[in-house]
Amino acid sequence: MKEHIQSVRGMRDILPEEASTREILFVQTAAVLKSFGYQPIELPILERTPLFKRAVGEETDIVSKEMYTFLDRNEESLTLRPEATAGVVRAMIEQGLLQNVQRLYTAGAMFRYEKPQQGRYRQFTQISVETFGLPAPAVDGELMQIGHNIFTALGIRDHLTLEINTLGVMDERLTFQKDLIAYLNQHKDALDADSIRRLETNPLRILDSKDEGVKNCLKNAPVLWDYLGEESRAHFAHMQEMLDAMGIAYQVNPYLVRGLDYYCHAVFEWTTTALGAQGTVCAGGRYDGLVEKLGGKATPAAGFAFGMERILQLKEQIAPYTQKNPDIYVLAGSLKEQAYAMRFTQVLRTAFPSLTIVAHNDFQALKRQFKKADQAKAHFALVFGEQELATQTAMLKDLTTGTQQALSLEALTDYLKKEIL
Ligand code: HAM
Repeated sequence: MKEHIQSVRGMRDILPEEASTREILFVQTAAVLKSFGYQPIELPILERTPLFKRAVGEETDIVSKEMYTFLDRNEESLTLRPEATAGVVRAMIEQGLLQNVQRLYTAGAMFRYEKPQQGRYRQFTQISVETFGLPAPAVDGELMQIGHNIFTALGIRDHLTLEINTLGVMDERLTFQKDLIAYLNQHKDALDADSIRRLETNPLRILDSKDEGVKNCLKNAPVLWDYLGEESRAHFAHMQEMLDAMGIAYQVNPYLVRGLDYYCHAVFEWTTTALGAQGTVCAGGRYDGLVEKLGGKATPAAGFAFGMERILQLKEQIAPYTQKNPDIYVLAGSLKEQAYAMRFTQVLRTAFPSLTIVAHNDFQALKRQFKKADQAKAHFALVFGEQELATQTAMLKDLTTGTQQALSLEALTDYLKKEIL
């Protein structure tokens, strides 16, 4: 036997049961987004590498350690997208769509070369939500409202905490960063190896270190809030007013910084304690400077993304989706009876598009076919045997009660209308 070629580490096969729940999750999410006037957009999975370097930031973990980057046959460096925002901004500029306000969402595979573990994959699926052209803090509030409504619709809202923070604007952050570096340099012996490395590359990320020693050391460190000007403070205060007005609970976490460089002002994360180390299920914020940084005209923008896998893991723990069993399982013996069954069920399929009608479609004894109908947990078996063909009927057996009746197509249609619709 030939050697079996296995899938790539960190990339999962999503089997029918899980794939079905993902489909429902997507439909529920899209329904909430549509109710806010957001529209779908689909973008390439591959982008030119400099796009992510410039947007996400050279020194971030994502760009420096986690990208799937390769040269194509034309020797051009391309990258499998590690996140969606950079591509959406690229498309907005390239397609000239920034004259108007945009409210968009996009779903698809993202790729990060991380250490695979529960809730962390090398290929995962994000639903990303992005807005362009709206500077008001109401937009930040709306993005959190959308998250709140999606998670409420999914029945997991009560198991999530909304954490918010403000990163102010670049100048404020740079002054703060200078003082933070000076302070941390004086307390280098309290830092772990990761934070010492970050001191050189990405000092703000030290703020969300999980190391207890580092956390302690940060207690006396300069605080970004003290460096924020009037405008930044007002933006954050107004955003909180929006959340208060909607009755959406949140916690201010002054140590919340994001792993991507493009944010300013409001940032937020939806977290849970139910998923162990990968507790952030959704995250985002404002990124007013990014369009300009990628060559477009300055445009306010904000958004968020959630990982479908983490949301589904949480949902699985709290209120799992139930699988839909077939409504009708179709049994037929001979070739002729199968053709008759197909003609019959074609009418049913058209009349009842929401029913799941599964045809056995194999030549086996009816007893065996009934067994399959039971295994499939179908509500009804619809039998097409010699007798039924001769009388132009079908035998409908309710597998939950065991009762059965021979019905003409018309009688069956009436029965189904009354009984299960
Ligand atoms: P992010 O925080 O890098 O933000 O990712 C957002 C979400 O994607 C995370 O909260 C998590 O649920 C999921 N995620 C990230 N990495 C993995 C992984 N390796 N395995 C499974 N799930 C993962 C962004 O990507 C930003 N583009 C969000 C955004 C949109 N900001 C503004 N607009």
